[in-house]
Amino acid sequence: PLSRSLSMTSLSGVLPAWEEAELPVEDLLLFEVAWEVTNKVGGIYTVIQTKAKITVDEWGENYYMMGPYFEHNFKTQVEACEPPNPAIRKAMDALIHNGCQVHFGRWLIEGSPFVILFDIGSAAWNLDRWKGDLWETCRIGLPYHDREANDSLILGSLIAWFFKELTDQLGDKLNVIGHFHEWQAGPGVILSRSRKIPMATVFTTHATLLGRYLCAGNADFYNNLDKFDIDKEAGERQIYHRYCLERAAVHCAHVFTTVSQITAVEASHMLHRKPDVVTPNGLNVKKFSAMHEFQNLHSTSKARIQEFVRGHFYGHLDFNLEKTLFFFIAGRYEFSNKGADIFLESLSRLNYLLRVRNDMTVVVFFIMPAKTNNFNVESLKGQAVRKQLWDTAHTVKEKFGKKLYDALLKGQIPDMNSILDRDDFTIMKRAIYATQRHSLPPVTTHNMLDDSTDPILSNVRRIGLFNSRNDRVKIIFHPEFLSSTSPLLPMDYEDFVRGCNLGVFPSYYEPWGYTPGECTVMGIPSVTTNLSGFGCFMEEHVSDPAAYGVYIVDRRFRSPEESCKQLTQFMFSFCQQSLRQRIIQRNRTERLSDLLDWKYLGRFYIHARHLALNRAFPDKFKIDPMAPLKTEGFRYPRPYSVPPSPSASIHSTPHHSDVEDDDDDEPYDEDEEAERDRLNIKAPFLACEF
Ligand code: UDP
Ligand code: GLC
Repeated sequence: PLSRSLSMTSLSGVLPAWEEAELPVEDLLLFEVAWEVTNKVGGIYTVIQTKAKITVDEWGENYYMMGPYFEHNFKTQVEACEPPNPAIRKAMDALIHNGCQVHFGRWLIEGSPFVILFDIGSAAWNLDRWKGDLWETCRIGLPYHDREANDSLILGSLIAWFFKELTDQLGDKLNVIGHFHEWQAGPGVILSRSRKIPMATVFTTHATLLGRYLCAGNADFYNNLDKFDIDKEAGERQIYHRYCLERAAVHCAHVFTTVSQITAVEASHMLHRKPDVVTPNGLNVKKFSAMHEFQNLHSTSKARIQEFVRGHFYGHLDFNLEKTLFFFIAGRYEFSNKGADIFLESLSRLNYLLRVRNDMTVVVFFIMPAKTNNFNVESLKGQAVRKQLWDTAHTVKEKFGKKLYDALLKGQIPDMNSILDRDDFTIMKRAIYATQRHSLPPVTTHNMLDDSTDPILSNVRRIGLFNSRNDRVKIIFHPEFLSSTSPLLPMDYEDFVRGCNLGVFPSYYEPWGYTPGECTVMGIPSVTTNLSGFGCFMEEHVSDPAAYGVYIVDRRFRSPEESCKQLTQFMFSFCQQSLRQRIIQRNRTERLSDLLDWKYLGRFYIHARHLALNRAFPDKFKIDPMAPLKTEGFRYPRPYSVPPSPSASIHSTPHHSDVEDDDDDEPYDEDEEAERDRLNIKAPFLACEF
């Protein structure tokens, strides 16, 4: 069945083409299992959700995702339907008839994949028995108080049971592949394999448990990878049982993969198996019909953020919004792993530099979910005051407009001194008086439950960045993921990112790190590090990442102090760019999109599945085990006009004037810019930022 060969041509003409034998998907069923299927926690959700489209394109109705059932998620994201395959219906019914609830439907995301969701609560009465089974199988015991581990066992037991029923019915007709993600899906692999269910299995880690814990505990992780007593470390952190689940799953799977090279090395030490394939994370890159459209989206989204900032800083708007840049950091709240520590330190230095040497202001958003008791009154009031000023301006404008119109109808130019009457002045004065405030604009938008011990707030207090008038760096901590239905900042994350100028993600522990990649495909420059999977991928595959707006902080070979200095320098240099230079850089940034597209990176998943089938059913699925993936050694060329170092690139980026004539609305032509870039010709003015 593997005689035909699947040839993928390069997307942009720059990326390498690739050949892999085509799988007979009509004779196979693919199941992808993750705790984050329809259930958003962090980046794994992004992997699953963005990859759906290319997987459905390849597998059609033979592709199924599996995860936990949560009523709210199901009601809001899934359209219930009947499984197209009677064997799947029967396997589900076997569980349902034994009192466990299983739901089926189409997940309403691009590609509309089928999902099979298992109700953990409905099966919880089996927990003790299943714990016994796990103990008998592999001598791993789970403590009663670890809800997450117990839930993962319930999910895994249900899934292994489902696979048993399914493969019993299918016999030799169709072969099954199960692709499991992260330790929470681990029991599914362990039980399926120990019960000798005839299926091919892939297990992908998106981090190692120990790596995450050790780094968060400030260990000098990367210099001591081979020195940790891993069992002892896991025991001391009370995660020994989780660690055992993870390690067992890694060793049970036919194929083990991880999301980056750096995590592959980590896994070899922490889990004692070298991954068979590295499966980097991609994105579902949407191309816009007009190439400059992402620049226009930037300006509309930026205008919305500016509106929010007008409200948040009411009474203190003594900085020029035209000379204000928006920076942000986002992701799960792991303070030091995500590099929020060195970010804050660098911001305090940037604040100093901007005060003495520059007229820019930077508003920095921290979007990291923490425990809160809803929005705080001061933040909501800010938006209400802004709205009131807007309404007042509107009312006065209407009256003014009517008087002006009446006068013109009579053939007169109205007397400008009397066009506004006393009442108009009164309502305007009242509106202005309402903007007085006796406190500084708040640092956080929510009432924090752990206000006094929260690491971001504690550090803000230490460095004294309280949004005072003199500060050129202002901080807004939004301890909740963004949503377009928020009464405070009604924007979804994508729109928000588009409106910002720079994403800053100086992570110490980051197996991949979606956030900088998401910035890239939206044409927004970002900072990442050489300890993040994404940063390493960029270093490996792009000749000059900084020229494309991907700044890589060295956290591997430098001390924290030196990394801080470097980060400060990146941010300060960024603030010194002219409007024009920022526009040009956004164009370059967006050009890397193809490299991050699942259409390109999906090939590693295809390869991993292939390998698993070969290992599970060697007689049926042949593969050349030595065949290299033909992307090795590939590097994306640097833009011709840009010298290698980021600070140098700022001064040498072509520009026709130091004056920012931003009212030029000549349409932007990307091909022309690319060509100019290639020939190193100075460009005429490029439009689009406000
Ligand atoms: N994210 C989001 N809404 C927000 C902020 C972040 O959906 O308001 C998403 C973001 O798009 C990204 C994910 O959270 O895909 C974070 O993934 P990443 O891999 O960077 O880190 P993780 O949190 O998984 O460690
Ligand atoms: C994990 C990692 C993150 C990665 C994500 C998706 O959450 O911490 O770095 O991007 O998984 O693979």
